[in-house]
Amino acid sequence: MKERIDFLSQKLHFLNAQYYQNSKSEVTDYQFDLLLKELQLLETQFPELKNPNSPTERVGGTITKNFKNVNHRYPMLSLSNTYSKDELFDWENKFIKLLPTSVLENHKISFFCEQKFDGVAISLIYENGQLKQAITRGDGQKGDDITANAKTISSIPLVIIGDNIPPYFEVRGEVYFPLANFEKLNKEQEELGEQLYANPRNTASGTLKLQDSAEVARRGLDCFMYYLLGENLPFISHEESMKQLEKWGFQVSNTYQKCESIEQVWNYIEIWETKRLNLPLATDGIVIKIDDFFIQSELGLTSKSPRWAIAFKFKAESVATILEKVTFQVGRTGAITPVANMKPVLLAGTTIKRATLHNEDEILRLDLHEGDTVFVEKGGEIIPKITSVDISKRVFNSPKILFIKKCLECGTELERKPEESAWFCPNEKGCPPQIKGRIAHFIHRKAMNIDGLGEETVDSLFEAGLIKTYADLYELSFNQLLSLERFAEKSAQNAIDGLKKSVEIPFEKVLFGLGIKFVGSTVADKLAKNFKNIENLQNASLEELVSTPEIGEKIALSVRAWFSDLENIHLIEKLKSFGLQFKIEEKEITNESEVLKGLTFVISGTFNTFSREELQDKIVANGGKILSGVSGKLNYLVAGENMGPSKLEKANKLGVKIISESEFLLLL
Ligand code: IVH
Repeated sequence: MKERIDFLSQKLHFLNAQYYQNSKSEVTDYQFDLLLKELQLLETQFPELKNPNSPTERVGGTITKNFKNVNHRYPMLSLSNTYSKDELFDWENKFIKLLPTSVLENHKISFFCEQKFDGVAISLIYENGQLKQAITRGDGQKGDDITANAKTISSIPLVIIGDNIPPYFEVRGEVYFPLANFEKLNKEQEELGEQLYANPRNTASGTLKLQDSAEVARRGLDCFMYYLLGENLPFISHEESMKQLEKWGFQVSNTYQKCESIEQVWNYIEIWETKRLNLPLATDGIVIKIDDFFIQSELGLTSKSPRWAIAFKFKAESVATILEKVTFQVGRTGAITPVANMKPVLLAGTTIKRATLHNEDEILRLDLHEGDTVFVEKGGEIIPKITSVDISKRVFNSPKILFIKKCLECGTELERKPEESAWFCPNEKGCPPQIKGRIAHFIHRKAMNIDGLGEETVDSLFEAGLIKTYADLYELSFNQLLSLERFAEKSAQNAIDGLKKSVEIPFEKVLFGLGIKFVGSTVADKLAKNFKNIENLQNASLEELVSTPEIGEKIALSVRAWFSDLENIHLIEKLKSFGLQFKIEEKEITNESEVLKGLTFVISGTFNTFSREELQDKIVANGGKILSGVSGKLNYLVAGENMGPSKLEKANKLGVKIISESEFLLLL
């Protein structure tokens, strides 16, 4: 089995490297998946044989509750910026003055030009050809250890294949959200009626810090590498080191170019200013590096940035147009979003007529007046935004744009919580878009997924006075549906059937469908898995909620608030009476052995090979018992990373045996 596991791992690493070196593979995607599935299966059967850098790490599954903050061996510097041709040429004059004449006489100065990728900087540490650690930039001196999440990015080699691999080196690069994947993610958000992610960069950054690496894997980040560091590496130029990175299977963007003069650099910049818009990721400039390592070391670094490199930043494209009016939208949660409606204008290839204004502060910041000439920009953001107003074109006496005081839909006075920037319509129960929004959310594909019902039907049913809550859907009769304009016998029957079928939808989806603020589908999954049924969740204290993986105080408070509303409790009772699922289906744990019979365990912290649930299942499947807390009766405390200090202290005091994940595997 070990031989087969090693064979499969090596084969998959090889295929992966080949794919990123030559953009081709000797096997089809399907064959690749089969090999990966086989390896996954073997690893679940023989977890002790699994390599920490197994190709199966790509799919994720590790939960990291707290990311360790670790030191960078070499600080992660930034780059100084230039914005014009003059500034760029000045940079050359400046560094030439810093170099001794002897150096200038004996060395030719070439430049290596690359895209400035608009993502998140990452440092990858390799020891003996194995990926050991992946660290975010942090403050440049210390960053977060996000190794498990980085391993899900398939262009990051986990194992280097090749000759003469230095025993220690670091590779730096930029993790980014490919635009296509970013759009896909936002489409999902849109369908769910959830807030859109503002731009690919921030979303890449947020994704790298997710606790659940399986979700990181699902979102599809990617990475370009642009810097190799280490001690006594045998390369004499940046170009050489980049070529080596490519050979080792790292992904280096093929947009780079070596330039022999600063004029050539300028030419590269001019070409890429528009060409970059066709790249599959966001870029915001060009990075220019002096190629020769000897000259690099002569010039050295300042405390902030190297003197041998500079960034040229492109200006975001901006156009002027007229602000016609500001409208206000009421969302499912009652949040009011102001939207600027403008005279249509062409910007970065698309016609723009609406821009988000975010909130009241933004309107005040811009000091918007009706009919203003405004500048609109589309930087990394997908939704264009107004950056400034051309005051010189303001029409005399034109009225100031005021934020509404009352909800335009229901007339209720708006409220604003001190810690939030948005105004809300507090009339949750009576404001039509909020009521309809909640029902539309409930029937959504990712929630109850009810065939035969759509958002428009919800609108009509609500207008006809037939529904006020999602529970009312289950009381609809065939004839009531038929009475709606767009319904015929067949479509009415479809809706009835869809509703009937939806009672089988699993608890986590029902929970998501309830529409509790901040409980998105991932959070609903976690809550359902952790609390098993709605009663446990309803009775959970704030502390219990917060100690659930991935659940912070904001979510916990919102859950508590939702369950403290009696009308919601009635809703649940009503849904229960229609037969909806309010507990998770217990999975059958198949007995593997009795080797742990009579032994008790407590699990704490996070683990490499198993998720906590898998570890629990493993214990039960082998005859062991899980206890809820450390006591004198306890046999073993299985300690993962970042476990709570109080548990550890108590176990030590009581003389409970503390074992690691691998020691646990030995017990089996
Ligand atoms: S080189 C010591 N090359 O820009 C120099 N950086 O403003 C190390 N960046 O923190 C950086 N594309 O996150 C380099 N081709 C590229 C880059 C790049 C994007 C980012 C990087 C860095 C920031 C500096």
